Amino acid sequence: MPESEQTMFMRSNGISAEGTRDQYADGKAAKVWEIFIGDKKSRTKNYCDFLVNLLRNRGCRRILDVACGTGVDSIMLVEEGFEVVSCDASDKMLKYALKERWERRKDSKFDNWVIEEANWLTLYDDMREYLQGGFDAVICLGNSFAHMLDNDGDQNQQKQAIRNFERCLKPGGLLLIDHRNYDTICNGGSAPSKSIYYNSQHMTDIKTSVLYVGGKPNIVTLDYLISTDEGISEFRLSYYPHQLEVFKKILKEIFGYGCYHEIFGDFKEINSNDTPAFYIHVIEKSK
Ligand SMILES: C[S@@+](CC[C@H](N)C(=O)[O-])C[C@H]1O[C@@H](n2cnc3c(N)ncnc32)[C@H](O)[C@@H]1O
Repeated sequence: MPESEQTMFMRSNGISAEGTRDQYADGKAAKVWEIFIGDKKSRTKNYCDFLVNLLRNRGCRRILDVACGTGVDSIMLVEEGFEVVSCDASDKMLKYALKERWERRKDSKFDNWVIEEANWLTLYDDMREYLQGGFDAVICLGNSFAHMLDNDGDQNQQKQAIRNFERCLKPGGLLLIDHRNYDTICNGGSAPSKSIYYNSQHMTDIKTSVLYVGGKPNIVTLDYLISTDEGISEFRLSYYPHQLEVFKKILKEIFGYGCYHEIFGDFKEINSNDTPAFYIHVIEKSK
């Protein structure tokens, strides 16, 4: 295993003290995010069938993308004819989504695309004017939710955020939310530099560090290195390592124990792959 893919169990520098800090504020990650994602069509191919078919089969029409970032998922959904409202806490990331909307504004689908700045902790209030009885689906994809750290050690802010996602759904609406396979990462694995979401043709390395607090994994820091035509770009992002069983329990607590909840591994049946890079949860709000 190359040194760059090894997991180091150590304290990382520069970890934020606040769970809601905008980790993209220095613009470094935002600048190369689309390069990191790689060929958008191939990203689309990886999960277009899954996402679009699932949303269409469930009759979802109005979608709230709560972590739109540079807009990659939202753009795909707008192109596919969904009515999309997108938000994100980072103006540095939103800048790229807003630029795309502006450039494609002559297409009415893009002219109608709503993009707002919003934080998950205040999401319900931030998005109130767009709720119209609740969205058919809320999506939070691309390992976004793990950006919310757990500074108080009780996961209360994370629960508040998921509660807000639930409140933005209509009865019977779906939440699609994912996280990396942190069970494997915290058991000595590492974050793969290529995955269902990130497929850059440029040389990409990810160094994985795990910070333990009280004997439990508390923060996973990924140091990204991407070689672009303009040189080497480096940025660091910190994540809360959601473990599958705990995350399942939190979702059930908020949505109710009897609700429909299905988990996919890299967009496939969970049993078809022992160690997927990502888990994707699909959970339904009670009718
Ligand atoms: C890894 S990016 C993913 C963006 C996009 N979904 C993708 O896959 O390319 C994560 C996004 O989550 C956003 N985010 C993190 N914490 C947030 C919060 N508390 N409220 C709203 N957005 C947040 C970040 O600003 C960032 O744009």
